[in-house]
Amino acid sequence: MSSTSPKTATLSLEGTNRSATLPIIEGTIGPPVADIRKLYNELGIFTFDPGYGGTAACDSKITYIDGDAGVLLYRGYPIEQLAEKSDFIEVCYLLLNGELPTEAQLKEFSHGVTTHTMLHEQLRSFFNGFRRDAHPMAVLCGVVGALSAFYHDSLDINDPKQREISAFRLIAKVPTIAAWAYKYSIGQPFVYPRNDLGYAANFLYMLNAVPAEEYKVNPILCRAMDRILVLHADHEQNASTSTVRLAGSTGANPFACIAAGIAALWGPAHGGANEAVLKMLAEIEHPKNIPDFIEKVKDKNSNVKLMGFGHRVYKNFDPRAKIMQATCHEVLGELGIKDEPMLDMAMELERIALSDDYFIQRKLYPNVDFYSGIILKAMGIPTHMFTVLFAVARTVGWVSQWKEMIEDPAQRIGRPRQIYTGAPQRDYVAVAERG
Ligand code: CMC
Repeated sequence: MSSTSPKTATLSLEGTNRSATLPIIEGTIGPPVADIRKLYNELGIFTFDPGYGGTAACDSKITYIDGDAGVLLYRGYPIEQLAEKSDFIEVCYLLLNGELPTEAQLKEFSHGVTTHTMLHEQLRSFFNGFRRDAHPMAVLCGVVGALSAFYHDSLDINDPKQREISAFRLIAKVPTIAAWAYKYSIGQPFVYPRNDLGYAANFLYMLNAVPAEEYKVNPILCRAMDRILVLHADHEQNASTSTVRLAGSTGANPFACIAAGIAALWGPAHGGANEAVLKMLAEIEHPKNIPDFIEKVKDKNSNVKLMGFGHRVYKNFDPRAKIMQATCHEVLGELGIKDEPMLDMAMELERIALSDDYFIQRKLYPNVDFYSGIILKAMGIPTHMFTVLFAVARTVGWVSQWKEMIEDPAQRIGRPRQIYTGAPQRDYVAVAERG
């Protein structure tokens, strides 16, 4: 805290002589925070913050966002630098351990992940219990939760070694589960992981290979997939990460916590937005329909949102969206796709929205999901797998945040309070006497 910044804030209750002094806590960067933990004891009042827009639920050293400046840092490193110079497995190490690895550390870490990619063979039959037309997010959520029934030797959250093994297992096995959920949905045989391939290449291989012919991973698609994974790896205390932390605060095992995170990610306001963007573009159908669509979005009674736009924290360009847009052009160019009507429509939609007062006043900009769906589509990934892919990437973020929380000696169960607005206490009335 600098010598000029205030060290306390005072909250006084109007009409009384009672007040509380709240300590001001400062992080390394970012706005200061008033510590309200003793407020109820001192003044007998709680704070009210639905959606937690003004509440820091924890302190964390992992990811920093400056929403006004459009900055995203993993462990202090700008996302642009990591997307350009690093790769997903190195980013996983960084998020989990706090520092970039040495060559030897990276090799050991990569080996640790690679040697956990296979699933317990009995899990194969678990997939058969789902309907073929189940959404792969439903399958992912169910099978990841079921890992806790298969890996009893890494459930003790108080044992650092077991925590490490469960971290490796989750990062390594989620892509296998995701790919198998897809294979199951299209009736193709499951493809076992190949440990001679890198993380992104192995994932593409498990998604696309069939036993009948040789499959060669396209290096351009592999690089794009790796970049997509890096961009989605963590995003501080978003809804799914907060869900993982809340579940983890009860002492639940890591597999159960990550399954909870997957469930939260699925919603269209969160990770489901990438799938929703493509559905939206398909519904708009033609650029000539964009002005009508924008009018519908602006009409409060329509319940229509411009998917892939807006963010709770970013009130400027989401830096991930900028990289996604550039990657989108690169991938389409490399694949020789000269004319992609979805991309043309997305760019036109963005152009119109960014010059419209409704979006300008509310500071609504494209988020990470606006362009990711178009890249994934060009890569041949089916729409219902988009959110699954987000979950594959975010698993390392969830695991890192869960680990940080468990290792924090000040950690306690998450338990928000409420304003009760229901009936006051009243006496039970027998059914015959009710009017
Ligand atoms: N289209 C139209 N209006 C919007 C949009 C949008 N996409 N986003 C926000 N608004 C309006 C909103 O109606 C409100 O207007 P008013 O002040 O007149 O009531 C104003 O902008 C402020 O929005 P908010 O609802 O208070 O913002 P929020 O922080 O609660 O919601 C959000 C953030 C991401 C849920 C929301 O912007 C949204 O639903 N966007 C579309 C879905 C989407 O793209 N989600 C992906 C987010 S990034 C990846 C991830 O987190 O997984």
